[in-house]
Formats: sequence, structure tokens, C-alpha cells
Amino acid sequence: MKFFIDTAEIEEIKSLSELGLVDGVTTNPSLIYKSGKDFKKVIKEISTIVEGPISAEVTSTDCQEMIAQGQELAKISNNIVIKVPLTADGLMACKKLSSNNIKVNVTLCFSASQALLAGKLGATYISPFIGRLDDIGTTGLNLIKEIVHIYNTYKKDIKTEVLAASIRSPLQVSQVASMGAHVATIPPKIIYQMIKHPLTDIGLDTFMNDWKKTGQKF
Ligand code: G3P
Repeated sequence: MKFFIDTAEIEEIKSLSELGLVDGVTTNPSLIYKSGKDFKKVIKEISTIVEGPISAEVTSTDCQEMIAQGQELAKISNNIVIKVPLTADGLMACKKLSSNNIKVNVTLCFSASQALLAGKLGATYISPFIGRLDDIGTTGLNLIKEIVHIYNTYKKDIKTEVLAASIRSPLQVSQVASMGAHVATIPPKIIYQMIKHPLTDIGLDTFMNDWKKTGQKF
């Protein structure tokens, strides 16, 4: 499973890239707002750090404007993926951009039937938001399972990858991996949480102390 990093914070992207854990980056208008940086500049900057796909989201709800914005954003670098919302206008923009060889990530997906539409219209990625479904008392993970199943059933026609988004815990990352999601977009904090385990820390302390006790030098 590929790891995309869900952030527009340059320092976080740099640190995780050094760790070798960044296959791509996803952003959205809220993450751009949080970064306090200029949208196009920050996308350009990310593209100088990361070779993999970088999702940049359109800021209009109108199909023609989404297409124009998508075409402009795609010029920033050849690894830009255009994020469009799962609306009728967004789906039309998805079809048009995809047919012009621009990769599209259809975002704000909350049902398998929505995902089916994005798949039929040539999206490169579909982004089901699992955490936000959990927030309203439904099981977000079930959606990943359902979409993976549908896409696998029609894999001759649907090439769209399932990009599990709105991830809130390390457990959800392993759960979406075991369900066959192609990609998980993960907030940096969760990547660091994934590394940590108390038994690793305790075990390492013991090994280091026992090594000291041997009195040997490496
Ligand atoms: O990039 C979209 C998605 O990952 C947002 O997550 O935590 O704002 O629901 P969240």
C-alpha cells in the first residue's frame, strides 16, 4: 500500500521524505489555510521535494472553473493530481480532465455508489473519508471494504485506486491495508504514532543497558 501524507506543512513533508515514507502528498483548502502559505507556491514547493503524486484541490464548485483551475494547477509540475469534489460538476470535470491525461482525485466520497461513479468516469483516485463517517456514528471502514470489492469486481473497466482518507489512528491504517486500499493518506502525527510501541522502547532500553554491562566497545 502506498503512503501519501495528508499535509501542506513543508517541514513535515521533508522529515517524512527523509524517512522514506512519502509516496505522495494530499492537500485540501483547509490544510492550505492551516499552513498559512500561498496555495500555488506551496504546491510548487512540495513538488520540489516529492516525486510522487501531489493532490491539489480546485477551489470552485463550477465545472468549467474546476477544469480551468485543474489545467492551471497541472502545469505546476508533472506529478500534480487535481482534486475535485464528488458533485455532478466535479464528476464532469473529472471526466474532462482525465480524458486530457490529467490525473484526478475525486474527494469527499461518503458512499460506494458515489465511488462507482468516479470509477466509471476515469478518476485516478477516489478518496473515501473514513474518519468523518465515524464522526457521525457510522463505520467508515465498511466503505473502504465495499469500494475495494466493487472496483475489484470490475477491474477490467475500473482502474481507479482507493485512497483511504480522513484517517485518525494507526489502527485504521493497518485496517485499510488489510482491506486492500491502494493508498492511505495519513496525517504526519499518525505516521509517528505508527512507529512507536512501548514494548519496543522497553526492549531497546534493556538491550542498551545489557550492552553497557558487557563492557565491550563496538
Ligand atoms: O485530505 C482529506 C482528508 O484526509 C481530510 O481528513 O481529518 O479533515 O477528515 P479530515
